[in-house]
Amino acid sequence: MNILLIGSGGREHALAWKITQSPLCDTLWCTPGNAGIAEVCACVPLNTADHGAVIAFCREHAVGLVVVGPEQPLVEGLVDALTAAGIKAFGPSAKAAQLEGSKGFTKDLCKRAGIPTAAYERFTDADAAKAYAAGRGLPIVIKADGLAAGKGVIIAETREEADAAIDDMFSGSFGAAGAEVVIEAFLTGEEASFFALVDGRTALPLASAQDHKRVGDGDTGPNTGGMGAYSPAPVLTPALEAQVMREIVQPTVDAMAADGMPYVGVLYAGLMLTESGPQLIEYNARFGDPECQVLMLRMKSDIVPALIAAVDGGLEHVNVEWHDAPALTLVMAAEGYPGTPRKGTVIEGTETAAGEGVVIFHAGTARDGEGRLIANGGRVLNVTATGRSVREARDRAYVAAEKIRWPEGFHRSDIGWRAIAREGKTA
Ligand code: AMP
Ligand code: GLY
Repeated sequence: MNILLIGSGGREHALAWKITQSPLCDTLWCTPGNAGIAEVCACVPLNTADHGAVIAFCREHAVGLVVVGPEQPLVEGLVDALTAAGIKAFGPSAKAAQLEGSKGFTKDLCKRAGIPTAAYERFTDADAAKAYAAGRGLPIVIKADGLAAGKGVIIAETREEADAAIDDMFSGSFGAAGAEVVIEAFLTGEEASFFALVDGRTALPLASAQDHKRVGDGDTGPNTGGMGAYSPAPVLTPALEAQVMREIVQPTVDAMAADGMPYVGVLYAGLMLTESGPQLIEYNARFGDPECQVLMLRMKSDIVPALIAAVDGGLEHVNVEWHDAPALTLVMAAEGYPGTPRKGTVIEGTETAAGEGVVIFHAGTARDGEGRLIANGGRVLNVTATGRSVREARDRAYVAAEKIRWPEGFHRSDIGWRAIAREGKTA
């Protein structure tokens, strides 16, 4: 089968790496891809907002499956267009992708289905939003309804901050994403992510992970797309995973099907593990980046049959096996990230840095006119390793990162700290 992968991040490099190991994959293409993906398969420049162009490419190259990595094309209905053209596409329809694309949509669904989540209200008017916030405790969480590249959430510690965030959102700081605002109660606990594969009806649990959202050590500084991750997340015990499937994931899948928009694809649940049990913070309609990198390293089974079963139905017959060894990924980012990253700087040593149990996935990389590897985005490399423990995976990743010569890049020095602290307690 010929496969087309959409995206250009570390997530897509990891997917390309895994998909090309499948005996079911004849030829893989990726659009737009990056310098690392180009070493695994051919990268083609397609405008994925132009659904006709993607369909034409698939017809010309007998593509039997399209795998969509990022959220934007999902929310724009790429899967709907491909499906209508008779081309199998992995990912939710535009309607189903509202689980990521509209926080208000997801909160309403949780309310209807009795899924544990923070108390909330939706607003299209600043005065009403401020009046509601004023009647609630602090801190309070203010969210732009739509896609805001991970930046549309403000945790206000004071009334003034809450009012300012509300004004900011309604004045268009997040564009159309802020035309509606969700205000919700602040939850306390530890955050973890859980991933399931869904065929519209059956949810197959995949694995847990923990991300590191802040740019700096000790979880300080601005939010990013994620500076590192590991899987599994030891805090999410098998009992808690079962509870998440029973109380959050399966009721969501059932509600989406009952509402006539069956969910197909990866359902990524962002969770807060509170004293009263796991609560849903948000859904994403795709694999996480960098969480996908650690999931792919841990996945023992061929991924392609699972992706096909999600699209065709029949996930109840699929069994995905995992390596016991945990995996950890360390993000190397360009100076300036998450603000304006410095592009075009030369990176050396990636070819020889990978060693035992270490794979380097590229994110924002490209080749310059002389064929040198250069930084071409904010998050640039994902040094990903497995080990007998998170600590060992961490040590391997950091040893490999030291071998990469890129003075204009940086990384956090404490990836894995939560899991390693837990390992220390049980050792
Ligand atoms: P989201 O984009 O919804 O994942 O929110 C980004 C981050 O804001 C989350 O990862 C949490 O750290 C934090 N957050 C969002 N909602 C809440 C909440 N209700 N209580 C506490 N923290 C939250
Ligand atoms: N790493 C967070 C995300 O993919 O949304």
